Amino acid sequence: MFTGLNRRYFAELDSTNRYALDVLSKTNPPEGTCVITDYQSGGRGQIGRYWHSASGKNLLTSYIFYPHFLQVNEQFFLNIISSLAVHAVVSQFCKNVKIKWPNDIYVSDQKIAGILVQNILRSTMIKSSVIGIGLNVNESNFPPHLPNPTSLTLFTKNSYDVKSISDALSQKLEYFYLLLKQCRFETLNDQYIAAMYRFEEVAQFRDAQGVFTGKIIGIDSQGKLIICTSHQVIRHFTFQEVQYVLEEELPIQQ
Ligand code: BTN
Repeated sequence: MFTGLNRRYFAELDSTNRYALDVLSKTNPPEGTCVITDYQSGGRGQIGRYWHSASGKNLLTSYIFYPHFLQVNEQFFLNIISSLAVHAVVSQFCKNVKIKWPNDIYVSDQKIAGILVQNILRSTMIKSSVIGIGLNVNESNFPPHLPNPTSLTLFTKNSYDVKSISDALSQKLEYFYLLLKQCRFETLNDQYIAAMYRFEEVAQFRDAQGVFTGKIIGIDSQGKLIICTSHQVIRHFTFQEVQYVLEEELPIQQ
């Protein structure tokens, strides 16, 4: 196994993704290098959000890969493999684990992990990739402003050794990365779809025009979400263009 073999641990960092990107700008650490910390003072989430994690409670890690075999237009497969790896680890402890497109990991209707993939591109190829993963392990009191967080502890009433969870994650990530390297695109796509949150369920979504009803029917080759609306229109959305609407957000019908 090469994933997680070279392990750089820090008691505190601003962000493991920021650190990994900085290292990559100066050197080329071995593929599978994993940066890990107990606390991030500036944890990065998607679309510029902050990632909260209490000190020493959770898994905060970033992996470095060199997927030179991937074209830029195939980069969503890095989100797919990381989602499948975290999904597999969480599924060892919890039932009803889902991937909320593009790469949030949910248990029932609560978020247990977030993933931030940052790729460095060289013309049409991917030069390197930093896969940042925040998995809530032993945290049980989340700040009230977070919409719907959960952790392995909250779900199972057990506590866990974060290092063992990190080892399990390295193993799963390597497994899915190697499938990707073998160009098993269809297998990976099928596994992602099979684990997808609200797949083929009639649900409410919001875009720039307002709330609409539809169902998720897949993702396209670029990783866009495909929704078939209640008017039978097939629409493709990027992450910024659509939101899931939770039941409690909808006005009560008279
Ligand atoms: C999200 O759901 O918005 C993505 C969150 C990703 C958080 C992880 S924690 C480890 C790694 N380092 C960061 O700064 N972010 C990712």
